[in-house]
Amino acid sequence: MARREASVTDAQASSTDFSSPLLAWYDRHHRSLPWRTPPDETKLGVLPDPYRVWLSEVMLQQTTVGAVKRYFEAFTDAWPTVEALAASHSDEVMKAWAGLGYYSRARNLKKCAETVASEYSGRFPDTEAGLKALPGIGDYTAAAIAAIAFNRPAAVVDGNIERVITRLYAMETPLPQAKPEIRALVAKAMPQHRPGDFAQAMMDLGATICTPRKPACVLCPITEDCAARRKGIAERFPLKAPKKEKPTRIGAAFVAMRSDGSVLLRKRPASGLLGGMAEVPGSHWTARQDGVSDVTAAPFPAAWRPSGSIHHVFTHFALELFVFKAEFPRTASPGDGWWSSPDALPGEALPTVMKKVIEAAIPGATKKSRKG
Ligand code: ADE
Repeated sequence: MARREASVTDAQASSTDFSSPLLAWYDRHHRSLPWRTPPDETKLGVLPDPYRVWLSEVMLQQTTVGAVKRYFEAFTDAWPTVEALAASHSDEVMKAWAGLGYYSRARNLKKCAETVASEYSGRFPDTEAGLKALPGIGDYTAAAIAAIAFNRPAAVVDGNIERVITRLYAMETPLPQAKPEIRALVAKAMPQHRPGDFAQAMMDLGATICTPRKPACVLCPITEDCAARRKGIAERFPLKAPKKEKPTRIGAAFVAMRSDGSVLLRKRPASGLLGGMAEVPGSHWTARQDGVSDVTAAPFPAAWRPSGSIHHVFTHFALELFVFKAEFPRTASPGDGWWSSPDALPGEALPTVMKKVIEAAIPGATKKSRKG
């Protein structure tokens, strides 16, 4: 078989012109996604709305396509344009974001919308450098928007693409050290005429065929080019440097419930972990060492009773929160915060960790009622 000869290593032996079979596969098998323009249109120069591309890319950082779809639809229904999002109330944006995690993304989303609306007349810059100057837009997002919304030749590398490339070249360098090498290989392979479709084709291949476990190599349009497949070791890649173990912190959370079912909430400070989101009162869990985890951390005296504990894993630490609950008369007034009624509670800007806390004390309280 005459492959691209005179090669020494697997990396060099692998193809850099896999873009043609990949794009042909994408033309037939691309996923239909609400922020996407299908390839028969992009080939005619019809590109997707940069606002929708930007919103989807920010949502898709650290979150799967399946989880993002309903949030994307809720956002674009509520705020169909960047100007509408810029004019919205931050609290409403945080509520709509609740459950997606990484809440600084939502705060930056609002800031970015305001900047684009006020300083760019509602039009996103159309270059990687211009995009990177906006709040919350880093290297990855700038490249993705530049390629997908403006067909700029930007090298887009996300987790899916890292997996595809490290397999294609049977790359022995572990992540994250391999990142610059991966980026260079993507830049080299990217066809100048369809950079946006190329990026999305790589993402789709990674998500549907070149999956972390049990990749469907027999269905892969570039299996012939894949060094890991030739060796029968696709699943071994990407290699990853060992992760540091996460510290565990502990704390206490207090669910105060009025006899009408309302729950006492307060707003977290605007910056920092879960900034601007809603919470029940509780101890600090920001210290490096374990925090106070018993009833002595209660915000005010009451008949606090233990209501179990919950576990939640953040990026840099794991948290165990001991939950306490107490009941209050209907007329109790909060010193600080607000009473959220049973109807309002599911729509509050509660991060997942707080939903777990409230559910431990009052099962079903944070779930939307089926009635409507
Ligand atoms: N993951 C991140 N961005 C994506 C996109 N534009 N399409 C599909 N999956 C993605």
